[in-house]
Amino acid sequence: MKKSMHALDIELVEMTLDVMKYAINRISDTSPELGKPKQEEELKALVGETITDKGIGGEKAFELFRDVLVKAAVPVDHPRHLAFVPAAPTRAATLFDLITSASSIHGAYWMTGAGGIYCENRAMEWLVRLTGLPEGSFGVFTSGGTAANLSAMIAAREYWRSLNEENKALKALVITSEGAHSSIKSMAQVIDADMVLVEDDEEEKLTGKCLQQKIDELSDIDRKRLFAVVATGGTTNAGIVDDLEGIADVCKKEELWFHVDAAYGGAALAAPSVRHLFKGIDQADSITIDPHKWMFSPYDCGAVIYRNMELAANAHSQKGAYLDIFKDEGAQGFNPADYQIQLTRRLRGLPLWFSIATHGTEKYEEAIEQGIHLANRAAEKIKHHPKLNLVREPGLSCVLFERIDWKAKDYVNWTYDNHQSGFALVTPTKWRIEGEMRTISRFCFINPDTTEKDIDDILATLN
Ligand SMILES: Cc1ncc(COP(=O)(O)O)c(C=O)c1O
Repeated sequence: MKKSMHALDIELVEMTLDVMKYAINRISDTSPELGKPKQEEELKALVGETITDKGIGGEKAFELFRDVLVKAAVPVDHPRHLAFVPAAPTRAATLFDLITSASSIHGAYWMTGAGGIYCENRAMEWLVRLTGLPEGSFGVFTSGGTAANLSAMIAAREYWRSLNEENKALKALVITSEGAHSSIKSMAQVIDADMVLVEDDEEEKLTGKCLQQKIDELSDIDRKRLFAVVATGGTTNAGIVDDLEGIADVCKKEELWFHVDAAYGGAALAAPSVRHLFKGIDQADSITIDPHKWMFSPYDCGAVIYRNMELAANAHSQKGAYLDIFKDEGAQGFNPADYQIQLTRRLRGLPLWFSIATHGTEKYEEAIEQGIHLANRAAEKIKHHPKLNLVREPGLSCVLFERIDWKAKDYVNWTYDNHQSGFALVTPTKWRIEGEMRTISRFCFINPDTTEKDIDDILATLN
C-alpha cells in the first residue's frame, strides 16, 4: 500500500530529530551568522529544482535549507543587527511557536481554539493593563502592525458610518502625521479613505495644537469626511512618541476616533523610565502594539486593542450559515475572528503567552529597559566620539547620528562593508537637519544580548 504523507515512520522520526537539533542549535546561538541575500537565479543555481513530481525527500530539502538557503537570509536577532526594527524572540517563545504549529489549532473561534485562545487572552490582559485603558477594553492578536492598524481603521470607519446616513455616502478622511508609519498611509488606501498629513512641530512630534490647526483649516466637506486621527507611539525612524494627551483632547472635542500606532514603541509602556511619554494613551479608542518587535515574540505577532469591543465586532464579525453551529456552553466564548480582519488564524499570541508565563512580566520590563539603556549608552559614546554628531537625544531605543563629512554614499558603503564581512547590520536613514534632509545613520536597540562592546566595536568602524 502507498505510504501516507502523514505516516509516522522511521524516516519521519529521523527528520523530526534533525529538525529539533537544528531548532535547538539555532535558538542556543545568540550570535548567528549574518546571512546575505542572493539573487533568485543564483539561489536556484545553488539548490536546483525543489518542487518535482516525486518530491526530493525531506532530508534533501532540509539540507538545502540549512546549508544554503537560510544563509541567504539576515537573522533579525543578531546582537549587532541594529537596523530597521530588529527583533529578539525569547527561546521560550520560539519553542512555543513550534508547539503552536504542532498543535494545529484553528484560532478563529472559541469553539475550536478555547484552550489556546485562553492563553492568548491572558497575555492580552497584560498588554491592555499596560495601556491603562478602562475595564471592558480588550484586544486580539493579528499578523502584525499593518493588520492591526487596518483592523482598527475599519472599526473606526464603520463606527463613523453608523452615526448617520450622510456619512455612509461620503469618502472617509483620516489625519495622521508625517512621521507615521507607511502602513497607515497604505491601509488608508485599502479602505479607500483619503489622508491628510499634519506637519509635526519642531521636535518632529504630532501635537494637539498642530492637529487642531489642521482640522480648523479643513473645508466644511472635508471636516464632515474626517473620521479618525492616527497618532504614533514611537516612530519607526526615531522613536518619537506624539503628544498623545493633547491629541486625545482634540479628538474628544471634535468627536473623532483616536488610534495610536504603537507597533514598535508600545512595548516601552512596560518600561518605567519612559512610561510618562505615553501620557494620554489611555484615552485612545484603539491601539496597535507588535509583540514581534520589542516583546520578544517570533514572527508574526501584532495586536490591536479596542476601548469598545462591540464597535470592533460590529465591523469585523463574519456571518455564515455554516458558522452558526456552536451549541454547547463550552463552545461559547471569545472569538478572535470577530475583532480583526482574518477568519482562519494561527494562535499567534501563544508563544508570547508561554514566554511571559515562563519569565514573568518583571523580566519583560527589565529586557525592554535594557534596549533604552543601550540607546542612552550609545548616545553618550557618540557624543564623545571625535568624528560623530548625535543628531538628537535617543527616542525610546532609537539613536540617530551622523559621521562628520560623510555623504550618502559613504553611509551606504559603510553599511555594505560591515554586512559583507558578517560583522553588523546598521543602515542609513534620512533626517531633517538645519532645514535640509540629510542621510545619517541609526541604531535601533531591541536585543538585550547586545552589549556595550558591540556598540564600541561598531563605533570603532567609524573612526
Ligand atoms: C510604527 C509602526 N507601525 C506599523 C508597522 C508595521 O508593522 P508590521 O510590519 O508588523 O506590519 C511598523 C513596522 O515597522 C511600525 O514601526
